[in-house]
Amino acid sequence: MKIGIVGAGMVGSSAGFALAIAGYANEIVFVDKNEALAVAQAEDISHAVPFMSATRVRAGGYADLAGAGIVVLSAGVGQRPGESRLELLGRNTAVIRSIVSEILAVVPDPILLVAANPVDIITHITASISGLPPHRVIGSGTILDTARFRSLLARHMEISPQSIPAFVIGEHGDSEVLAWSGAVAGSADLVSFAAQLGKPVTEEVRKAIDHDVRNAAYKIIEGKGATYYGIGAGIARIVRAITRDEGSVLSVSIQTAHVAGVDNVTLSLPRVVGARGVTADLLPDLDHEEFEALKRSARMLKDLSNSLGL
Ligand code: LAC
Repeated sequence: MKIGIVGAGMVGSSAGFALAIAGYANEIVFVDKNEALAVAQAEDISHAVPFMSATRVRAGGYADLAGAGIVVLSAGVGQRPGESRLELLGRNTAVIRSIVSEILAVVPDPILLVAANPVDIITHITASISGLPPHRVIGSGTILDTARFRSLLARHMEISPQSIPAFVIGEHGDSEVLAWSGAVAGSADLVSFAAQLGKPVTEEVRKAIDHDVRNAAYKIIEGKGATYYGIGAGIARIVRAITRDEGSVLSVSIQTAHVAGVDNVTLSLPRVVGARGVTADLLPDLDHEEFEALKRSARMLKDLSNSLGL
C-alpha cells in the first residue's frame, strides 16, 4: 500500500522510518511545505531501506499522494518543555485545516491517520472538516500511552510487553486513564499474575507506573526537546493493522457517538482496526474510580470541543 505522510518533521520522519524498515508499506511519499526537508528525509530513509526492506521512499507535492490508501497527518508543532498538549491547539488547528482539503482533492477516500497534538481534538476537527466517516479518521490517541504502560509493567514483571494487553484510554494527555482493573497477563488478572511471578504490583509500584506513564513525554522533552520514536512506531503499528487487515485491538482515537455518559466526543478506547479503519469499539472492564476518570476525561474533551463550536 502507498502511504502519504504530510509533515516531514521528527514525528512524520520517524513514522516513515519505522514503516520503511519494517516493510509495512510498498511506497512512502513525504509532503512538507519545507520541500528541502521532505526530500532530505526521503533520501535519508531510502538509504536505510536496502538493509531492511524494498520500500520505495520519495518526496513530492500533494499531487504525488494520488493512490495512497492512508495519509498520515503529522504536520504541526510539538510541545515545548513544560507545555501541555492542549496548549498546541490553536497553532495546530490552523495547520490541519490548511492541509486536509489539499489531501482530499487528490485522495478522495483515504484513511486519515492524525498524529498532531492535541490529537483528540485535532482528530475531531479533521473528521468534521473532511466529511469522511468517523471510522476512517483515526487519531494515534493513547496508542503510545498504552505502549508506555505495557513497557513499564513488563519491566516490573520481567516479561515481554507484548504479553500484557493493558490499555490506557480517554484523552491522550493529562486526563488519560490507565485501565488497571481490566489488565491481564497470561489470561490471568494482571495483579494476580504479577504476584505469581513474585513481582507484586504494590500500591507504590502502581503509583510509580501511573506517574511515569503520564509524565513520560514531559520527561523526554526536557531531555531531548521532543518525542518521536515512540509515536513514530505507534503510527507504523496502526498502518500495519490497516494494510494487513489484521483486526488488531489498538487504543486509538476516533469520533465516538457515546461513551461514559458523553455524546459525540473524540477519545481513545480499545478498538478493532483493519482494512476499513475502525470496525468496533470496546470498553475494557473498569472499576468505579476508572469509569469516573474516563467520564471526566470525556467531559473535558467535550467541553473543549463545544468551546470551539465543533
Ligand atoms: C507524546 C506525544 C506524541 O506523548 O504527545 O510523546
